[in-house]
Formats: sequence, structure tokens, C-alpha cells
Amino acid sequence: MQKVAVITGASAGLGAEFARQLHGMGYALLVVARRAERLAEIDAEHWVADLSVEQEVERLAAHLESRDDVRMLVNNAGFGTQGHLAETALEPQMAMHRLHVLATVRLTRAVLPQMIRRGAGAIVNVSSVAGFARSANNVSYCATKAWTNAFSEGLWLELQRTGVTVQALCPGFTYTEFHDVMGSDRAKHPRWLWLDAGFVVRESLQNLEKLYVIPGWKYKAFLALWTKLPAWLRLRMEARR
Ligand SMILES: NC(=O)c1ccc[n+]([C@@H]2O[C@H](COP(=O)([O-])OP(=O)(O)OC[C@H]3O[C@@H](n4cnc5c(N)ncnc54)[C@H](OP(=O)(O)O)[C@@H]3O)[C@@H](O)[C@H]2O)c1
Repeated sequence: MQKVAVITGASAGLGAEFARQLHGMGYALLVVARRAERLAEIDAEHWVADLSVEQEVERLAAHLESRDDVRMLVNNAGFGTQGHLAETALEPQMAMHRLHVLATVRLTRAVLPQMIRRGAGAIVNVSSVAGFARSANNVSYCATKAWTNAFSEGLWLELQRTGVTVQALCPGFTYTEFHDVMGSDRAKHPRWLWLDAGFVVRESLQNLEKLYVIPGWKYKAFLALWTKLPAWLRLRMEARR
């Protein structure tokens, strides 16, 4: 039987790179995003959906539940916003929570039973270094990525001895369309902090058995120190930035 990888947000950036590398590993692909014309460029089964809309998530979830060949799910679709919660438009904030949180739970729940039944499978939840941070201007983003980490940890506990793995992939700044969509100037952050999307995805796929994958030694070193600090001190330091 063919093994299928489902990738959300495959029309650009990390998702498109997951599609390229998983295709190279022999997976058949089911790729999901809103932009049909971008998905059409990928040799795969296409599923056009806005995953911040409950009915569209439900339609995809029901389809996934009806099949028995899904061996990987990459919950990758995501976006960022800028600005204080009280001052920015409400809808993108709500959509971010629905996309990063609710779609991830629903799609994961859709594929887990078949993976557990087969004793094989992998869930990759694309989180972020931001999941370990709290930041003014990025309240929802940091909160939803912290949720992604907590969700992945809980699942890791439940999936012991099932043959199914779960990973929280936590990249730092990565060259994709993410910052263009957010309207953020990449030049604000030093070049040495930026990662290549191909490298990030390789790190993920070569370490599927690891719960946390933090690509790049600079981010590994930073988080090793940062996460040792007490929460009050981290918040004080964030408040001074
Ligand atoms: N780039 C970074 O610096 C960075 C760092 C850490 C974590 N991440 C995370 O990496 C993941 C991928 O982002 P990226 O950097 O690859 O950004 P990207 O190049 O902008 O790609 C985002 C993908 O998500 C899809 N998407 C966005 N909203 C969607 C929706 N409502 N429904 C369905 N698909 C949707 C987009 O497709 P359509 O527009 O066609 O729908 C696109 O394929 C995100 O979860 C992001 O938080 C990125």
C-alpha cells in the first residue's frame, strides 16, 4: 500500500519544501492550501481549503477519516500578524487561533486512529522558537505556538509504544513568504539568524523520532539558556526589548 503524507500550507515556504522532500522519500502527497494555482505546481493530490474555516476543516477531516493510507501529517499552515491585540483587526487574530489550534486538533484526530491501527505514522506540528517566548505585538502567535508545543508534548505521552511519533518543529527566522505575508521587513533581524527552508525540513525529517526539533545550533544554544530562566525574569527581559 502506498504511504501518504498530508501537508497543510504546501503552496509556499516550509510546506512546499516538505512536499519536495517527502516526494523524494517515496511518499504520495495530499497537499492543502487556499491557492489552487500554487498547489497545481506540485505532483500530488490537491485539496483547496481555508483551514481557518471550521466547515472546510471538517470536510478535509472527514475525507482523511475515510482513508487508510495516511502515514504522515504535517500541520504546517500558518501566518503571523503585527501589532498590539487591542489595536489590530480582530478577525486575523481569531483566524490564527482557528488555524494554528483548532485545525491542528481536528486534522490530527482525523488521522491518528488509522496510524495507531497500522502501528506506523508521524505527526509533525510546525511550531516556532516563538512558542518559548512571549512578545508584545505577537501575543496570539506566541500563544498559539506555545499551545502547539503543549499539544505535541501531551500527544507524545499518549503515543508511547504505538509506533506513531509526534514532533514539534521549532524553527527560528526562516526564508519563506511568511514575513512578506505579515508585512515585516526581514532586514530588521541580522542575516546570521536566518535559516534555509530546505535545512529546516531536512532537520525535521531526519529526526522524526524526536519530540522537539530546533534547527540550527544558534537557536539550540539560545533556547537551552532561555528556557532555564525563571518565567518572571524572561517576562522582565521581554518587557525591556
Ligand atoms: N518563516 C519563518 O520564519 C517561520 C519561523 C517559525 C515558524 N514558522 C511556521 O512555519 C509554518 C509555515 O510558514 P512559512 O514560513 O512556510 O510561511 P509561508 O511561506 O507564508 O507559507 C504559509 C503556508 O500556509 C498556508 N496558509 C496560510 N493560511 C492558511 C489558511 N487559512 N488555510 C490554509 N492554508 C493556509 C499558505 O497557503 P495559502 O496562502 O495558499 O493558503 C502557505 O502555503 C507556519 O506555521 C509558521 O508559523 C515560520
